[in-house]
Amino acid sequence: MTENNIKKVAVVGAGTMGPGMAATFARNGFETALYDVKPEQLEKARGAVDFVYTILTSGGFMTTEDADAGRSRITHTTDLGEALAGTDFVVESVPEQKDLKQQVFQEIEALVGDDVILASNTSGIPISELASVTRVPGRVVGMHWSNPPHLIPVIEVIRGEQTSDETAQKTVEIVEKIGMVPAMVDRDVAGFVENRILYAIMREALHLLDEGVASAEAIDTITKWGIGYKLAVIGPLELLDMAGLDIYTSVASYLNKSLNASPEVSKTVTDKVAAGKLGIKTQGGLFDYTPERIQQLQQQRGRKLVATRKALADA
Ligand SMILES: NC(=O)c1ccc[n+]([C@@H]2O[C@H](COP(=O)([O-])OP(=O)(O)OC[C@H]3O[C@@H](n4cnc5c(N)ncnc54)[C@H](O)[C@@H]3O)[C@@H](O)[C@H]2O)c1
Repeated sequence: MTENNIKKVAVVGAGTMGPGMAATFARNGFETALYDVKPEQLEKARGAVDFVYTILTSGGFMTTEDADAGRSRITHTTDLGEALAGTDFVVESVPEQKDLKQQVFQEIEALVGDDVILASNTSGIPISELASVTRVPGRVVGMHWSNPPHLIPVIEVIRGEQTSDETAQKTVEIVEKIGMVPAMVDRDVAGFVENRILYAIMREALHLLDEGVASAEAIDTITKWGIGYKLAVIGPLELLDMAGLDIYTSVASYLNKSLNASPEVSKTVTDKVAAGKLGIKTQGGLFDYTPERIQQLQQQRGRKLVATRKALADA
């Protein structure tokens, strides 16, 4: 295996995820190019990076000097050649469309040498399918961040069918270098691990809502203050050992049958989507929002995520 001397990275796509990813690489010492096809996205990204550093500085994760140093390591560009010059590691974070991501990987491959790693932040497109159009599929890997990417520690590293050991190992090392928590996903299944578990929870929560078992507020309260609180410390498999596998067997043998296993999207959601109620972005979804409430929620959630991360790291 060649030495891991990655110093310069490129983030391709500066939308919801890209700026937080770039800010994270840069504050951990990597020269970072942030590339987008749209100049206005790069302009917005500057503000997004500032916002990320304000949150991290006020949360005590970094100093204002670190923030200035981080900002100085980020190059914003609409020139792909400039973004990729001297880069050892590229992560794409363009919209979740297979054709687009394949095209982006081909564009990148035309501009970089064979030893540069090509990572994808896809939420669930099989890595093997993205790699299938590339010249060197062994250097393609999944690097799935969680939103907000500068705060949620885990990054799934997903091996496609042809991902080389070296590519996987170097990607894990990068995740560690940027102070995040790597978790290896050995097989390239739809949704990987994080979204499979999350979507199982969301499907059951929506089913309970559809069936009138509890209100939306009550379902979220039970999940946040019961399951979520516990799961941040004890994983579901550890929880099984804690509860006792005999107890799980008794409960699961009657409960599994009544859990929702439908492949259909919940009727509540399809009705809301048809009515144009998409959530926060339309000021109404499963809950109602005012602009003031949205701002309050965003700030409160940011503060709570920072406090939780600190508490977990310090414990
Ligand atoms: N949003 C989330 O919560 C989240 C979480 C984890 C992973 N992801 C994944 O991250 C990826 C990006 O998601 P997002 O929410 O940031 O998307 P987004 O739509 O907010 O941003 C995508 C950006 O890519 C740019 N873009 C489009 N075509 C491009 C090209 N050819 N070259 C360079 N840039 C291009 C767009 O201008 C836009 O700025 C997706 O694969 C998504 O599934 C998203």
